[in-house]
Amino acid sequence: MLRPVYPLITERLVLRPFTDDDFDDVYAYHSRPEVARYLYWEARDREQVRTALERMTTQTTLTEEGQLLLLAVYWPEAGAVVGQVNLEWLSQENRQGETGFVFNPDYHGKGLAREAAEVMLRLGFEELGLHRVIGRCDPRNEPSWRLMERLGMRREAHFVQNEIFKGEWGDEYVYAMLAEEWRTRRR
Ligand SMILES: CC(C)(COP(=O)(O)OP(=O)(O)OC[C@H]1O[C@@H](n2cnc3c(N)ncnc32)[C@H](O)[C@@H]1OP(=O)(O)O)[C@@H](O)C(=O)NCCC(=O)NCCS
Repeated sequence: MLRPVYPLITERLVLRPFTDDDFDDVYAYHSRPEVARYLYWEARDREQVRTALERMTTQTTLTEEGQLLLLAVYWPEAGAVVGQVNLEWLSQENRQGETGFVFNPDYHGKGLAREAAEVMLRLGFEELGLHRVIGRCDPRNEPSWRLMERLGMRREAHFVQNEIFKGEWGDEYVYAMLAEEWRTRRR
């Protein structure tokens, strides 16, 4: 069970649940085709963002496996929500989770995604007690797998054409980190 006390503060960022007031900031990146290129959804119009945001505002705790915790990443310097990070509880019995991240391209290349994703790993390992956290991406999504490598995750698998992604056969990288590896990095 994971019920973080919000907001979660890092050196530069404030992580907190989404609210309806975040609509413009979320639309600013959910509407961009380059953001959705390697995600399981297409660039969204205003109505689709409204529907997505409605769900996002509720994903604030993990009380049972299968749930997703999704947080807004607010950067005070920009006065805006610059992206989102998530942690999915894949299995209670096997203590497995998965993390993911989506950021507004206007704020890429500043280490903000890394700073926010580290919070997801900390919550997963130190508060939810996970044994292993994975991340998955399309091998063509280099910024994504580079970020996972910077986080200290290991590439465990390269699945070849394991799914039909946006109308064509797609590959998948699976990255992972164990609790023990997390503790070693933190020391
Ligand atoms: C995946 C994604 C979140 C990565 O974002 P990002 O901005 O590249 O990641 P980071 O926040 O770690 O920033 C990394 C870069 O900032 C640089 N950087 C600058 N200042 C930094 C700082 N203070 N600390 C750390 N890194 C810093 C790093 O050197 C790195 O640059 P490099 O890639 O040239 O080596 C982003 O590309 C994205 O949102 N993509 C679209 C959605 C998506 O595909 N998500 C993943 C689905 S699997």
